[in-house]
Amino acid sequence: MVGIDVLVVGGGGREHALALGLSKSNSVNQIHISPGNAGTAFLGTNHDVPSSDINGTINLAKKLDVDLVVVGPEAPLVAGLSDKLNLQGIACFGPDSIGAKLEGSKIYAKELMQSLNIPTAGLVIVENIDRINEALDTFSPPWVVKRDVLAGGKGVIVTEIRSEAFEALREGIELDNLVLLEEFLSGEEASVLVVMDESGYICLPASQDHKRLSDGDCGPNTGGMGAYAPAPVYTPAVQLRAISEIIDPMHHYLRNQDIPYRGCLYVGLMIDENGAPYVVEYNVRFGDPETQVTLPLISSDLGELLLSCAEGRISKYDFTTHPYSSATIVLASEGYPGVSITGREIIGADNNIEEGEIHAFVHHAATSISSSGKLVSNGGRVLSVTGIAPELRTAVEAAYEVMGSIKLSGSQYRLDIAHRGL
Ligand code: AMP
Ligand code: GLY
Repeated sequence: MVGIDVLVVGGGGREHALALGLSKSNSVNQIHISPGNAGTAFLGTNHDVPSSDINGTINLAKKLDVDLVVVGPEAPLVAGLSDKLNLQGIACFGPDSIGAKLEGSKIYAKELMQSLNIPTAGLVIVENIDRINEALDTFSPPWVVKRDVLAGGKGVIVTEIRSEAFEALREGIELDNLVLLEEFLSGEEASVLVVMDESGYICLPASQDHKRLSDGDCGPNTGGMGAYAPAPVYTPAVQLRAISEIIDPMHHYLRNQDIPYRGCLYVGLMIDENGAPYVVEYNVRFGDPETQVTLPLISSDLGELLLSCAEGRISKYDFTTHPYSSATIVLASEGYPGVSITGREIIGADNNIEEGEIHAFVHHAATSISSSGKLVSNGGRVLSVTGIAPELRTAVEAAYEVMGSIKLSGSQYRLDIAHRGL
């Protein structure tokens, strides 16, 4: 069989994991990545087109005559990349702009969940500074304040301090004219990546992200500092409830749209002490670092998975996984999630472990090659190390062993990834 040519859009750790999975797929011939990073350059051809450049991406896909475009980040999907590729007859993994509103607008997502009776946190939309105190009285602390914009997971403030919540609400109104105040959900989080089209869906092994910067879940929210899978909190009983109360109703809705949803629906769950799942958020793409921790667990052909979804025939796909656990630790620049210090040399990013069933390896994210030929950091989350093994503990240890051998001045990583799973 002649393999397909694929263009992966994006340049983070998620896209490195996608390119790595595609490179191991028998169904795949050439891999192109735009813009990619220093790691993806070893798996395919990087192209200097930013993922925000919709027309540039379409022209690139046409010029390369690819069979499939796999979109990593949400912003190009919200901006209509998938719609435009489909008009050109190019298969795209990633929903059209209406499907992408599930992530693009938290208000839209909330209203849709409410209309489908999907369990989620209560919400007040605050548009007037004079009404902030009244809104704060609606819920007991802690308060959850969210901007209704794409913020890469960093636009959420959770606080028990009323004056802080007040300030966050005031600032949100000043920036965007409105801001969301949500009911606080307690429990444990899990991320379920659901690859869906109109013919059916496949749930990938559930993972647990670590959103806070520092050990013990302290510090500010980040894009994600590490993850592990499968997440034990997502028990078979929780899974049954998540499918019947959350995933099935949303799939039923999305498959019946004029343009059915084709791509990954990331379901961010909060699971309370009684095992009841609530939706914290939907994303319309693979998660980062959830992708790095989840894709290595898939044993069936990733290229075929993504193509069958983009072509609306996922129900025919034979999905299989390895009976392993995995853990991913993110290495971030000094300053992240604030202003990151970049341009520093990275040593040891080639280090890995290959010992029987135990593997650990690096996914690049914000890396590039400097003019003097050195591997350097060029953003907040620089790289991640993923460990895979029959036991979670061994996977975590392998990942930390490789992480300990990597040098990047001022960098930060959490030491307690997977602590709940262990
Ligand atoms: P989001 O950008 O909506 O995913 O939120 C980022 C993170 O903030 C989530 O992963 C949770 O850790 C936390 N969070 C968001 N909404 C809530 C909520 N209603 N209750 C508790 N924690 C929340
Ligand atoms: N790790 C969270 C996200 O990708 O949104």
